[in-house]
Amino acid sequence: MSKPGDYDAVRRDIVAQLKKPDYDDGSTGPLFVRLAWHSSGTYDVESDTGGSNGAGMRYEAEGGDPANAGLQHGRTFLEPVKERHPWITYSDLWTLSGVVAIKEMGGPEIPWKPGRTDHVDDSKVPPRGRLPDGAQGADHLRFIFYRMGFNDQEIVALSGGHNLGRGHADRSGFQGPWVNNPTRFSNQFFKLLLNLEWKQTTLANGITQFQYVDPDAEEGDEPLMMLPTDIALREDPKFRPWVEKYAKDKDLFFDHFSKVFAKLIELGIQRDVSGSVVNTDNVKGGYISAPKKSDTPTGPPRKDRSQQARL
Ligand code: HEM
Repeated sequence: MSKPGDYDAVRRDIVAQLKKPDYDDGSTGPLFVRLAWHSSGTYDVESDTGGSNGAGMRYEAEGGDPANAGLQHGRTFLEPVKERHPWITYSDLWTLSGVVAIKEMGGPEIPWKPGRTDHVDDSKVPPRGRLPDGAQGADHLRFIFYRMGFNDQEIVALSGGHNLGRGHADRSGFQGPWVNNPTRFSNQFFKLLLNLEWKQTTLANGITQFQYVDPDAEEGDEPLMMLPTDIALREDPKFRPWVEKYAKDKDLFFDHFSKVFAKLIELGIQRDVSGSVVNTDNVKGGYISAPKKSDTPTGPPRKDRSQQARL
């Protein structure tokens, strides 16, 4: 066990969990980024509810939300880290794992501050339906992200998270990676969004997505994909200029992404000038670290992709 507050030791152990040759594209990084984002993206500015404080995904009401399908594997991959550092809250661990993963995959440094607490029951879990639905369009993106307090530029920058990872048929129903190297953070997503010819396709499961099939692809090569919401960024007159800027200027994208991801993981967290969290739950309850969940990591270290798809 490390010294309470030794977040550098936690960072090092998160890094140690990233490389998993038998999982997906060989890294848990994209999953950690999605875990950090979904734990935060339930925030509602108006009612000041949701957000990363509390780690609600430990409860079925939030963890079992179909929008969070697959993230149980991310949480399980982080259990060995929690075991070595039982003092850290799940809410700090999950947000930190996203930040560490982005950096390790070649992305920008993202400011991260500790102090989130783990709620002691599910009474503060926000209602389902607050996370975006990839099958929809620009109006939906604005409806969801304005509720969190983001503007159009921030929506486009955040969507650059889709430089990483893939859709899984058994999780969201969407299938395939957005870019050729889905474990390397870059602005490739925006370049491909603008420059490739995306064709609408209906998958065997009835889900509609956009695909690019490389004419020089070899047999068995996976086509790249875009969600309908990703395509909406290219089509919408207010989103598109930002897509163009980020496609041209990687440094600008990295700078904006770092700022907006830092804002995302702080949604609903109130701090005093010294950085201490002053939300009522945190002040009353202190830094409540939920007990570690399970000693049996049940992650999906299986070799064969067709088997993985069923996990
Ligand atoms: C703009 C609205 C968004 C929609 C509709 C959306 C939707 C989706 C969907 C459907 C998947 C596939 C999940 C699966 O089947 O495993 C996915 C994956 C992913 N999303 Fe998003 N997302 C959005 C925003 C974001 C944001 C803001 C981030 C982070 C900044 C992000 C990061 C990721 C990552 C890293 C993955 C890959 C996860 C993996 O490989 O397991 N997404 N997203």
